[in-house]
Amino acid sequence: MTALLALDNVIKDYQSEAGTFRALDGVSLVVEKGELVSIMGPSGSGKSTLMNIIGCLDTPTAGIYRFDGTDTATLSETALARLRNAGIGFVFQQFNLLPRLSALANVALPMVYSGVAKRDRDMRAQTLLASVGIGDKPKSRPSQLSGGQQQRVAVARSLANSPELLLADEPTGALDTKTGIEVLALFRSLNEQQGVTVVIVTHDPEVARATNRVVRIQDGRVFYDGPPTEAALYGHAEGATA
Ligand SMILES: Nc1ncnc2c1ncn2[C@@H]1O[C@H](COP(=O)(O)OP(=O)(O)OP(=O)(O)O)[C@@H](O)[C@H]1O
Ligand SMILES: [Mg+2]
Repeated sequence: MTALLALDNVIKDYQSEAGTFRALDGVSLVVEKGELVSIMGPSGSGKSTLMNIIGCLDTPTAGIYRFDGTDTATLSETALARLRNAGIGFVFQQFNLLPRLSALANVALPMVYSGVAKRDRDMRAQTLLASVGIGDKPKSRPSQLSGGQQQRVAVARSLANSPELLLADEPTGALDTKTGIEVLALFRSLNEQQGVTVVIVTHDPEVARATNRVVRIQDGRVFYDGPPTEAALYGHAEGATA
């Protein structure tokens, strides 16, 4: 079986006036198809940097990143764009919905880029809205929806092109705990019922508890990778690797 994601000694350096900053310092990580993984770690530890590389929004300074067996450094811009639009679904903390579009049109948008006919994409968008529990609100604009409902629209949009991988960077960060856990339950059911591989960045131990595997990052390095034990969830797992 091929790993869906395989990072081998990935380094990411950022350049600024202050010099070079090493945000990822030799990250090696394998995620198999069908896993549900959370990434935790202090602010500034490199979580979003890691997600940007996994999502092919950015490239490593050194090291190898393979997606589904292919070294992403060998992919053309066109192939990378296709992967980002159809292979990977993204969910962000601030939802990133287009304010002037209805919920339905927001969900349908990625299918415009992948060339799905209007009738088909509207039908699929409606099905997706129903599957995340807001099938009764296709015409609402984002401003007319609650935070939890907006995040549901964003989750539905991320699924538009049936991605193999769902990446979520603090998807519950702007939600109260109860709504956050509902959104997490949505990810869990997608993972369990449709086999979508899910990687979630979270600072919330209760969100990470609902995943099968916790990867803890500190100073750009993985220092815990294993089950969601209390020590792993609450950050007392220093030096431990399960
Ligand atoms: N474009 C950039 N240029 C320079 N430094 C950057 C850039 N992006 C991030 N960094 C630095 O890299 C480090 C890791 O940033 P990153 O955004 O990955 O952290 P994070 O773990 O996601 O933090 P948070 O929990 O606050 O979102 C930080 O010290 C940050 O200041
Ligand atoms: Mg971040």
